[in-house]
Amino acid sequence: MKKLLITGGAGFIGSHVVRLFVNKYPDYKIYNLDKLTYAGNLENLRDVEEKPNYEFIKGDITDAKFIEELFSIHSFDGVIHLAAESHVDRSISNPLEFVITNVVGTVNLLNAARHIWLAPNSTIKNPRFYHVSTDEVYGSLGETGFFTEDTKYDPHSPYSASKASSDHFVRAYFDTYKLPAVISNCSNNYGSFHFPEKLIPLAIHNIKNKKPIPVYGKGENVRDWLFVEDHARAIDVIYHKGKTGETYNIGGHNEWKNIDLIRLLCKIMDEKLGRKEGESAGLISFVLDRAGHDLRYAIDSSKLQKELGWTPSLQFEEGLERTVDWYLANETWLNNVTSGDYKKYYEGQYVKRG
Ligand code: NAD
Ligand code: DAU
Repeated sequence: MKKLLITGGAGFIGSHVVRLFVNKYPDYKIYNLDKLTYAGNLENLRDVEEKPNYEFIKGDITDAKFIEELFSIHSFDGVIHLAAESHVDRSISNPLEFVITNVVGTVNLLNAARHIWLAPNSTIKNPRFYHVSTDEVYGSLGETGFFTEDTKYDPHSPYSASKASSDHFVRAYFDTYKLPAVISNCSNNYGSFHFPEKLIPLAIHNIKNKKPIPVYGKGENVRDWLFVEDHARAIDVIYHKGKTGETYNIGGHNEWKNIDLIRLLCKIMDEKLGRKEGESAGLISFVLDRAGHDLRYAIDSSKLQKELGWTPSLQFEEGLERTVDWYLANETWLNNVTSGDYKKYYEGQYVKRG
């Protein structure tokens, strides 16, 4: 049985990756390593937790000794690394936490993999370290153009700087030690189990509760949205078929200005909640812009499409509708993750534009 370590598997994207791999590969043993920060939630994995090829390990990737021991106990055949601090706004208030988790945590995993896989007596055949990264490392686009795998790194937020740094470490371990690694850089994901600090689930939560929907600046920033299950499928394809040492961009060719996306969401939710047309749009509240806010992201994923045959499966309107349906059907999940400290962080913190 192949042993695959997935880090951050209790988070938003990680839980979809764990679910896909546990169900699709019964001959793999999937180990989900997660610290269970505010963003990690075992509720996201209730449907797979009893499967014989799944095991949860609570642990911290920043603890080097623990990580080394874990690798020597389990001799993993591969790693898909998703654990990270992932929210740009939080990185602006607490950059060091992002350096420690995203950079030091990644280097701890690289070291442990190197010590086990590259040891002269290693018996592990064709191991692979897959680092899951973001398009934000490329910085910001103007009105036109796309990020390709050759776009120069130009991160602007502490989050994207920490992810860029971790990408560089992964490449450095490939170049220096020949650690067999592969990287992907993906655009904005949306879908079920998304923590409601990010734009789409936050807006769904606020619309549902008739609370203001905070839109940063004038809402003119553009993001390229991809359904999370399509990202998980891309990760599967790249893990199995991607070329060692390569990078693959993942994106949906699906650009939306924030304000247009929010208006569409309001329309869908008015219909679903039986509200008057235009009622939810009345909740839109323009607030002070995010510091260093990147204007536009757009991914050219033609390398992944041509070389590995992946394509996104869903139109955005359909994906968004499915996402809204999921949140409306999973009230308990939403209530659980928005109790406790949530209110302190997400209610009343925004400065309204004058
Ligand atoms: P998330 O915040 O929902 O989940 C992160 C997970 O990592 C959580 O379960 C958390 O408990 C865990 N974690 C955090 N610190 C840890 C530590 N020290 N040790 C062990 N586990 C720890 O994030 P996400 O949105 O699912 O993103 C997953 C990965 O994908 C990240 O690396 C992120 O940079 C990348 N990514 C995200 C997007 C997106 O749109 N969300 C897009 C491209 C790339
Ligand atoms: O591009 C990939 C990245 O996408 C990932 O690497 C990050 O982990 C993920 O969080 C996401 O980053 P963004 O900053 O783009 O996502 P967020 O949902 O925070 O914001 C999306 C856009 O909406 C962005 O332009 C900021 C804006 N925004 C966000 C929030 C939370 C608002 O206008 N209001 C809000 O309340």
